[in-house]
Amino acid sequence: MTELETLITSSLPKFAEENNLYFKPKTLEDWENVWDFGEFNANIYNHGLHQYPARFIPQLVRKIVKTFSNENSNVLDIFSGSGTTILECKYLGIKNSYGIELNPFAVFMTKTKLQNLDENSAIQKLDKIKSLFFDDSYNFSLISFKNIEFWYSEKVISALSKLFDIISKITDEKVKNFYLLVFCEISRKTSFLDHSGFKMYRSKTKVSSHFEPDVWNEFYRTSQRNFELLKENNKITMNNDTNQTLVYGDSRIIHSEIPEHSIDLILTSPPYGDSKTTVAYGQYSRLPWQWLSQKDDIIQLDTNLLGGSTKKLDKSILNLSEKLKEQVAEIENVDDSKRSNDVIAFYNDLYSTLKSATYYMKKGGYFILVTGNRTVKKIYLRTDLIITEFAKTLGYSTEKIYSRNIINKRMASKNSPTNEKGKTVNTMMTENIIILKKL
Ligand SMILES: C[S@@+](CC[C@H](N)C(=O)[O-])C[C@H]1O[C@@H](n2cnc3c(N)ncnc32)[C@H](O)[C@@H]1O
Repeated sequence: MTELETLITSSLPKFAEENNLYFKPKTLEDWENVWDFGEFNANIYNHGLHQYPARFIPQLVRKIVKTFSNENSNVLDIFSGSGTTILECKYLGIKNSYGIELNPFAVFMTKTKLQNLDENSAIQKLDKIKSLFFDDSYNFSLISFKNIEFWYSEKVISALSKLFDIISKITDEKVKNFYLLVFCEISRKTSFLDHSGFKMYRSKTKVSSHFEPDVWNEFYRTSQRNFELLKENNKITMNNDTNQTLVYGDSRIIHSEIPEHSIDLILTSPPYGDSKTTVAYGQYSRLPWQWLSQKDDIIQLDTNLLGGSTKKLDKSILNLSEKLKEQVAEIENVDDSKRSNDVIAFYNDLYSTLKSATYYMKKGGYFILVTGNRTVKKIYLRTDLIITEFAKTLGYSTEKIYSRNIINKRMASKNSPTNEKGKTVNTMMTENIIILKKL
């Protein structure tokens, strides 16, 4: 047996106590073969309070955290997104877990999912919100931000502004955040957004049919759903003495909140490529965050995420991975330097995050990445191999790479690489789970 197989086998008894919402591997083979989790519900407990693009499946996180750490381990997710890793760490009683995330909306969402809030305090407030919402004499100002009229009907802007004003005045911070998160979901639902993808397109059908959903009804239904999730969450987090530290910042740089050589396990899922051409986290978050912050700076977010900018391009990254060098050359053969520069910028940034993460890593610790390979100019970029080559230069050994089918993720399965109508290629429908060990 390899060291990894021994570790997995020794963790199997820990899964016996699992409830039916989670995966219970009984043998090494079970553990190694099951990664898709299609039959499991990803919206359990507070994980379901709000959606997020390319979210981790809690069952996958749990399987890895249970095997590669224990209650006293320190666990980190350097692309924490909606916080699936640290929330699952809380459920597992991991004393210290950390997350880093650059999207302010995702940070707000995670903090709200993590807060200890008695469900009754939230439930009791709904009647008061309702009576104020239906009070015609209630005074409020209309909210305004860039292009608001483009995304909503006049009536919806007024109803959302009133609701936002009422929620903002709730004095209990946790109750307020709970309802603000409900508000965020309906701020997307009641807009003219076309929800078939994560990018911001205005649905022609909604505009032409004067889409004017019932704001209160949407708010009420989402609140009821979230009460149930919170109740279930509270059953398993009672008396939970754990800490989660969420850093709102860039994972390319080192953050002093996370001590050097302190982390036993990093579990993360980096973006698959730059936000412009893959998943636009900023665009997904724009409307909710514009309502909450009443500022427009989130419009720049996608440019600030990995691979978002080709300014100050450093091509020396090509010396750290033969595979990357070879694939960039192939792209340059079929295109001018535009697309190859995008690709270099992305891997440059990805490398910086791996390097910074290594600062936090303990010797002997595991660094586990869930990644997708994507296609650029018909060239299937081997992010898995590129990462293992980068990792070697940073002092890691690659223990194993598993592959999983993406079932729960809402993502376009085809794209048009040449931007020609009708010409499509498959994009990521599988992901790799790369297991690295710090030597
Ligand atoms: C695949 S998602 C992670 C989703 C997460 N696993 C979850 O369960 O919600 C990648 C995340 O990386 C974030 N991100 C991209 N570039 C970043 C950077 N330079 N620093 C920190 N976070 C970044 C994005 O905002 C996005 O939330």
